[in-house]
Amino acid sequence: MKIIKVKNYDEMSRKAANIISAQVLIKPDSVLGLATGGSPLGTYKQLIEWYNKGDIDFSEITSINLDEYVGLPDTHEQSYHYFMHENFFDHVNVKPENIHVPNGVAANMTQACREYEELIKKAGGIDLQLLGIGTDGHIGFNEPDDFFEPLTHVVSLTESTIKANTRFFDSEDDVPRKAITVGIKTIMQAKKVLLIVNGKNKADAVKEAVCGKVTPAVPASILQLHPDCTIIGDEEAFSKL
Ligand code: PGA
Repeated sequence: MKIIKVKNYDEMSRKAANIISAQVLIKPDSVLGLATGGSPLGTYKQLIEWYNKGDIDFSEITSINLDEYVGLPDTHEQSYHYFMHENFFDHVNVKPENIHVPNGVAANMTQACREYEELIKKAGGIDLQLLGIGTDGHIGFNEPDDFFEPLTHVVSLTESTIKANTRFFDSEDDVPRKAITVGIKTIMQAKKVLLIVNGKNKADAVKEAVCGKVTPAVPASILQLHPDCTIIGDEEAFSKL
């Protein structure tokens, strides 16, 4: 694991955007595994800024998002489809046909999971996977469990994730209880992993993920075994390392 400690959220976002830019520059048809949430917002903002300056071109990339709430249609403001369009896709030149987000309203979720895995395989695997981390150590929506779930699957969200995500909804009751997420094996097969983390509330999860034993009780701990994983975190998130 390569650990990069930065001062604050802005520096984290700039550095993450730099790494993504370098990836796209070196391989214009990169397959980017993208993430939602508060952590990557600044990264997307920075990438949009550089795109507007003509410094980066997304026309050949494929994007494959990590996860989506089950039950929220694309048009729902809190769906990850909506988030990605609002905060990134609608502002850059990614081709619509190259944008992929798991389908949270599929009639047959088992089939939707299988098809998402097929899609990743057909795209040639993920070149760079961007990740945030949950306060419970989750990556994507791979929640703490007794085992690592390898492939795309439907998961029941933990209480701590529901509480953490309540900030985006009117009330806790409105937070979906299930999500569809790519699995741990899929994440581990990405050629590069870039985890970004900020804030004091993530310090325990970061400590467990980086210094603790590799265990499905802390899903992010598996990243210790990834051959090319970079973690960019601010001083608060790294305060317990
Ligand atoms: P956040 O979420 O970026 O909104 O903190 C990260 C995560 O839950 O994976």
